[in-house]
Amino acid sequence: MSTDLPMDIPLPPGPLRMGGAHFKKDQDFIEAGIRDVRMLRRTAGLTRRKTLLDWGCGAGRLAVGVKHLLGHVADYHGVDVQPELLNWARDHLSDAHTRFTLVDQKNARYNPDGDETYDIPAEPGSVDVLYSYSVFSHMLTEDIAGYGRTIARILSPEGRAWMTAFVEEDVPDCVENPTDYLKLDWKGALHCVRFDRRFFEATLWDAGLAVEQYVHGRETDGQSMYVLRRR
Ligand SMILES: C[S@@+](CC[C@H](N)C(=O)[O-])C[C@H]1O[C@@H](n2cnc3c(N)ncnc32)[C@H](O)[C@@H]1O
Repeated sequence: MSTDLPMDIPLPPGPLRMGGAHFKKDQDFIEAGIRDVRMLRRTAGLTRRKTLLDWGCGAGRLAVGVKHLLGHVADYHGVDVQPELLNWARDHLSDAHTRFTLVDQKNARYNPDGDETYDIPAEPGSVDVLYSYSVFSHMLTEDIAGYGRTIARILSPEGRAWMTAFVEEDVPDCVENPTDYLKLDWKGALHCVRFDRRFFEATLWDAGLAVEQYVHGRETDGQSMYVLRRR
């Protein structure tokens, strides 16, 4: 994809960009955000009038995509546990329709000393589109169940959750850093958590979420894409 990119939207410095080598080039970072906004429009009904919660927003890759493609949505709310990333996004990308909230919840990889709760800062029924790119890929079964219940509660009745995860058919239910998986060397806490598809979808179902769309292996490092709705 080649896009004429306006230069006046700030970009986070390289060390604050999540996603390894994939997003180090400015062009790649911006185009990935734009691509995902297009996808949210197509698969999750995102428009400028909708509320968008970017759970695990990092330094605001999707917010940059929203600004480039739509200007703004009704309410973009980025949430993350890493202060350096979140504070950069808040300081450089906030505006009347764009806000960021730092939360202090435990994730053994990103925030090991945080609280063990499954809250997401949003009112029940208030989120039209929840986007969560490469967040469940760093979480274990009880987190999927706990945050899944929260997501089912905060989605609006017609809302959609768009997310990625490592999911395969006929593998053990949940494995942290599986060996010889996708030709990558997974190391360190929760680098890659892989789920069995049936188990993952049953866990989400029990949490109150139904699968509307699934595309295997198309996202970063071979993650799969889900669109979920309240059941
Ligand atoms: C692989 S990064 C992806 C960042 C961003 N979604 C993107 O695609 O550029 C995963 C992000 O999830 C965040 N995260 C992990 N656990 C979280 C939690 N419980 N609440 C909010 N954010 C969390 C991490 O801090 C990290 O920024």
